[in-house]
Amino acid sequence: MSSETSNEMNVFDVMYNCRAMRRLDSKEVPQETLTKLVDAANQAPSGSNMQNGRWIIATDPAVRQKLADLNRQGVEAYIQPDTSVAEGLPHQSAGKRQRMLDSVLWQMEHMHEIPALVIACLEYGQKVSDADAQRGGGSIWPGVQNLLLAARAHGLGAAPTTLGLQNQDAVRSVLNMPDTMAALCLIPVGYPLGKFGTVTRKPVGEILRFNTWDA
Ligand SMILES: Cc1cc2nc3c(=O)[nH]c(=O)nc-3n(C[C@H](O)[C@H](O)[C@H](O)COP(=O)(O)O)c2cc1C
Repeated sequence: MSSETSNEMNVFDVMYNCRAMRRLDSKEVPQETLTKLVDAANQAPSGSNMQNGRWIIATDPAVRQKLADLNRQGVEAYIQPDTSVAEGLPHQSAGKRQRMLDSVLWQMEHMHEIPALVIACLEYGQKVSDADAQRGGGSIWPGVQNLLLAARAHGLGAAPTTLGLQNQDAVRSVLNMPDTMAALCLIPVGYPLGKFGTVTRKPVGEILRFNTWDA
């Protein structure tokens, strides 16, 4: 079965072929399609069914540029002091890690050109500190994953990002959000420049035990 054509993909094909796609075309994505992605995200569960997820899609070039600037600050702070970032991990070779880093840098340079920046937010109902916002994130991440899967099923590339959201006050100011809201994930969405492919994960036998954790 093709991993490229959405109408041939079942839910497992989509899950197993939903790699972070950072290199994206600047071609506009129709608003109708973007709305469908958020509608899919909105089907995800939330704690106590509070349905407190809120979604902003930045398509305006000025707003995208400001978000791209914040992302650049976050990426530069993450990468530069830590030269070990591109070293291999037990489950990921140095070469693969370097390719990931290259794609993070590509995304940093082109973020402002990516046609849609989807910001996954939560409404807390009261002023929220950065630390509390992070702790409450469990009610938005299922929606983020739904959105990533929906994007993949529509043949769109997407990737979850957080590095550009470290300064919540700056993000609130760019997006005109009240201090009761926090932005937890920014997902650039567009038509892929790279190839879709299967994700590479640790074998299930390594991360699963039945009943108790006996190493
Ligand atoms: C909580 C979280 C935060 C992430 N933050 C970033 C980010 O700021 N920038 C980025 O390029 N990717 C970010 N990612 C994407 C991961 O790097 C990516 O999901 C991981 O490398 C697996 O990639 P793959 O699905 O292509 O194998 C984040 C993912 C998660 C789940």
